[in-house]
Amino acid sequence: MKKSMADRLLAWYDVHGRTLPFRGTKDPYRIWLSEIMLQQTRTETVGVYFMNFLARFPDVFALAAAPEEDVLKMWEGLGYYSRARNLHKAARMAVSEWNGVFPADYEALLSLPGVGEYTAAAIASIAFDLPCPAMDGNLTRVLSRFHGVRENVERPSVKRQLLALAGEDMPPCRCGDFNQALMDLGASHCCPGTPECEKCPLKGMCSACREGDADLLPLRSAKKAPRPVDVEVLLITCGGKILMEKRRETLLKDMWVYPMKEDVLKWCAPEYKVERWGIEVEKGQRLGDARHVFTHRIWQMEIWHCPVGATPQMPEHYRWCTLSQMEQLPIPTAMKAARQYARDILTEGLEIYSTAHMPYTMWRSMAWAYWQSFQDVHRGASRAYLEEHTPTYMEMLLRGYAAMGKDVYCLALGEEAAGVMVLDLKENELCGLYVQPLLQKKGIGTRAVQFALRHLDESRDMHVTALDSAPHAIRMYKNAGFTRVTEHRLLDKEEQVWETCLVRPGDENKEDMHHGTDGTEN
Ligand code: ADE
Repeated sequence: MKKSMADRLLAWYDVHGRTLPFRGTKDPYRIWLSEIMLQQTRTETVGVYFMNFLARFPDVFALAAAPEEDVLKMWEGLGYYSRARNLHKAARMAVSEWNGVFPADYEALLSLPGVGEYTAAAIASIAFDLPCPAMDGNLTRVLSRFHGVRENVERPSVKRQLLALAGEDMPPCRCGDFNQALMDLGASHCCPGTPECEKCPLKGMCSACREGDADLLPLRSAKKAPRPVDVEVLLITCGGKILMEKRRETLLKDMWVYPMKEDVLKWCAPEYKVERWGIEVEKGQRLGDARHVFTHRIWQMEIWHCPVGATPQMPEHYRWCTLSQMEQLPIPTAMKAARQYARDILTEGLEIYSTAHMPYTMWRSMAWAYWQSFQDVHRGASRAYLEEHTPTYMEMLLRGYAAMGKDVYCLALGEEAAGVMVLDLKENELCGLYVQPLLQKKGIGTRAVQFALRHLDESRDMHVTALDSAPHAIRMYKNAGFTRVTEHRLLDKEEQVWETCLVRPGDENKEDMHHGTDGTEN
């Protein structure tokens, strides 16, 4: 008997189908999540987001219980953020109306916010094996070529025709696999532009292959080019804080940006700019330009720095943020360049001072930064160990170091501690350097090490130990002239905490180290 189109396709899929992180499951929550992420986004990009999102929200109950801002934060960088807001609304609906159990029903799935005909069909077929064709761009291309549909596929009547043809092709079982096989064929041999018809499992059955016009199909109306728009982005800072605005416009709604105006006439005087937000500007400096392309518009951004003298009360959708508060907000990729400027400005204000005369509140903030960094670097340790090291306990440790005659330094960004550093001048040792995880890789640690080099005695050997679980710290010390002396020393057997000791040779030993007499790598 002659093999049907579905038989050929499924046989090809069994061998050539892609292994993707969201495949191999029938869990409707996972399938729904992946299909929402895959709308307008490439499969390669979705993989990591999908895994991270699941780690943070393992089921529909966890998602429904989370604040919207946390969901947007996990979506940061994926774009089309209304997907995340709808996903969150839909999770709450699934919990309240269905007790968190997704129904095996196309129409019911279609009632979820953010779930259109394509997504409902994808979930229904993949999770529940219902015979629903999931007509995305790939299926439209493959099927219009296969069946020789030579009309504009954007016309509703042509869409209906393609859907009906797909329904006829659909096998009685393995409906989800059939849809995904078509997607994979569309993502490989039956690609846009010139397809590889020679390699196609449907060769010989396909109309466009026979007629030789596959590269012309599917027919669509011409796309409108995105409209360029002039945008001014203002980095308004005061005392280690920056002003952020939660967008209320449809584009990037509920995401946080730097105060900005779209489509304005070019402002000539910087003073004029910030009057709009009811703040007086002392001076403004143009930092640079950036561009971001959306589906319908292109933002052509001028980025300005406007330091101001006070942080007045602002309407609710504005917030004055420290650097770490800024890093916790969901900020769109369109702000990438502005965000980097903001980071540079805020870390520029780093102060390193002794705790000897520090106010009590700063001890708390410093212990908090120490605790966060400690929890991060010991994330492999037991729960009991991590729970034992509370912020209060960490503060006690720091005060203990100070009482023992070590110098404890606060790494401060305005009123907030970014981290803490402990020096032992007697032993000429940098005993500890901890930076809040959100504030790492921004040059704060390096600046602290430079400070330490100035305060320790350069003529004697300087010592430092770093945990093996913090390879970036080891790299940073090496860049500052330290060399490994002991590798992988066991610090805590029970918790399997390993450390590496490094030394920066003083005058006497400099020669030896250069000749590598310690036998370790440099
Ligand atoms: N694009 C959208 N959904 C997909 C899926 N399930 N597999 C591969 N690509 C997709």
